Amino acid sequence: MCGIIGYVGKAEATPILLEGLRRLEYRGYDSSGIAVMNGSSDAPIQTRKRSGRLDNLRTLLTEKPAAGHCGISHTRWATHGEPTDANAHPHNDSSGRLALVHNGVIENYQVLKDHLEEDGHVFHSQTDSEVLAHLVGNAYDASNESDPQRRLVEAVREALHQVAGTYGIVAMHADAPGFLVGARFGSPLVVGLGKGEKFLASDVGAIVSHTTDAIYLRDRDLVCLTEDDFSIENVDGDQAEYEVSTVDFTPEQAEKGEYPHYMLKEIFEQPTSIQNAFRGRLIDDQASAILGGLQLTPRELRDVDRIVLCGCGTASHAAMVGEYLIEHLARIPTEVEIASEFRYRNPPLDKNTLVFVISQSGETIDTLAAMREGQRKGHRVLGIVNSVGSTIARESDGGSYLYSGPEIGVAATKSFTSQVTLLALLAILLGRMRHLSVDAGQQLLKELRELPAKVEKILLQSEHIRQIALKYLDAKGMLFLGRQFNYPTALEGALKMKEISYIFASGHAAAELKHGIIALVSEETPSVFIMPRDSVYEKNVSTLEEVKARKGPVIAITTEGSTELERIADDVIYIPPVSECLAPILAAIPLQLLSYHFAVALDCDVDKPRNLAKSVTVE
Ligand code: M6R
Repeated sequence: MCGIIGYVGKAEATPILLEGLRRLEYRGYDSSGIAVMNGSSDAPIQTRKRSGRLDNLRTLLTEKPAAGHCGISHTRWATHGEPTDANAHPHNDSSGRLALVHNGVIENYQVLKDHLEEDGHVFHSQTDSEVLAHLVGNAYDASNESDPQRRLVEAVREALHQVAGTYGIVAMHADAPGFLVGARFGSPLVVGLGKGEKFLASDVGAIVSHTTDAIYLRDRDLVCLTEDDFSIENVDGDQAEYEVSTVDFTPEQAEKGEYPHYMLKEIFEQPTSIQNAFRGRLIDDQASAILGGLQLTPRELRDVDRIVLCGCGTASHAAMVGEYLIEHLARIPTEVEIASEFRYRNPPLDKNTLVFVISQSGETIDTLAAMREGQRKGHRVLGIVNSVGSTIARESDGGSYLYSGPEIGVAATKSFTSQVTLLALLAILLGRMRHLSVDAGQQLLKELRELPAKVEKILLQSEHIRQIALKYLDAKGMLFLGRQFNYPTALEGALKMKEISYIFASGHAAAELKHGIIALVSEETPSVFIMPRDSVYEKNVSTLEEVKARKGPVIAITTEGSTELERIADDVIYIPPVSECLAPILAAIPLQLLSYHFAVALDCDVDKPRNLAKSVTVE
């Protein structure tokens, strides 16, 4: 949560920072702010900040421009303190000559703040982050170092040694014009290396239009930047290793293009993103799949006797489909652990248990902590990640990328279908080493290849789905019901609906209805049944009848040809036929479109739903 970007170079910093913030706004949009300085050590730092969306800051900058070639900026997802102007970053120290932006949480901020206040420091915000600005400023003012750049670095280091919690920071001081110091622990930070200009940002997407040469900092790295140079040490002052990577996506990929919202664009990208997830990974002559990044020998894969899949939100729903897939195709006992629970739960894991963490961003703090906990116990933890170069991608013991391209809409869409596709490949790979027949393996490979065309067909129904959404805009709440492979799909459908349209929705295993949930059924509470023609289709029809008998409106998502449902359900959405175990990939798409059209019709901010942020990097 929160996005930060810093710039030092020859160009005007403000437009670059604003553009970077626009690209980072998905990380938080409660407030935004920038601080810039020009080349003179006498000139004070100019700070502009505003609560609310980035446009408010833009307006302020039109009224009160800020010029300079070096600056820092921030878009906030509020943790400590309401989204007010005062709580917006950057924060200053007592002298007003130091400015700092922070992404993360300073857990011991209250104790530190009390001490600082006793020493006469006056705080202007309720944030934990302002404490860092004062700590750095305090150390800077107390230092005897005569070189202002060195002095700032030492001060940052001293301050960071006092804090507990997570941080990605960038700081600058009016005494050291054209000089930025950044550091990270638990929050992402990437350095962009341009010609005569340097960048620091929470996400490479913010700087990719300026440079494709990037260094993904590691925890405890501390970086110093001038327009022509950079150095990386760790916060203890020791030399740190780093690698310059080439960013593998274009700025256009991170734009909405002709679509009104990123979410819609990302829904419509799924024929390609699903293909990218399986491209080059299907081995026809073995009727199997290859996931080279796992870095496991066939013998090691054969020895796996239990699998744990860990993730949060949508990724945990994909993991649940993965559990069904792996147990069904490979017969390996598999469990899903919500990452935030796993990290503290201390579940027993034996030596042949393989742990996977699943994350679109590769930065979700709970998933990262779950990974580290697994590794701490000596397990090999593998990642299924979309963001190349993200912390999970770098720290995991191997894994596979989704190759979905940037997902910017806060609601996860294409990452879900790609995660399930990848888990299907894993299940086929493990299955073919055990009981899965050649015929069954070949059939699944064929069906995987057919998925993109089938997704295209579903997308053609977007208008039909919109018309359905328009009928139910007054819904008091919604139920999403599915069984077996589509129980997780139901959970995912409900999450999408809640998240972007703010309609209360809950997902359930359909047969659970009569164990309590049916009490919610009424004319104002539509039920969405995810019921392709599969082994539990008839059971789902009976449950649907029970809902209709109580006057509950029903939207059914079913397989083409199941026209009999048109007589019982109020609305029907068809998906092409597909094997039961791959059906969640297709069934998720009408659910994404349904929630999207609900949200648009209800005038909700689809790409930036209230209270949320794309990347949850705080606990
Ligand atoms: O980046 P991650 O996949 O680790 O994110 C996990 C969740 O925060 C994410 O899926 C969240 O639930 C989405 N907003 C759901 O649409």
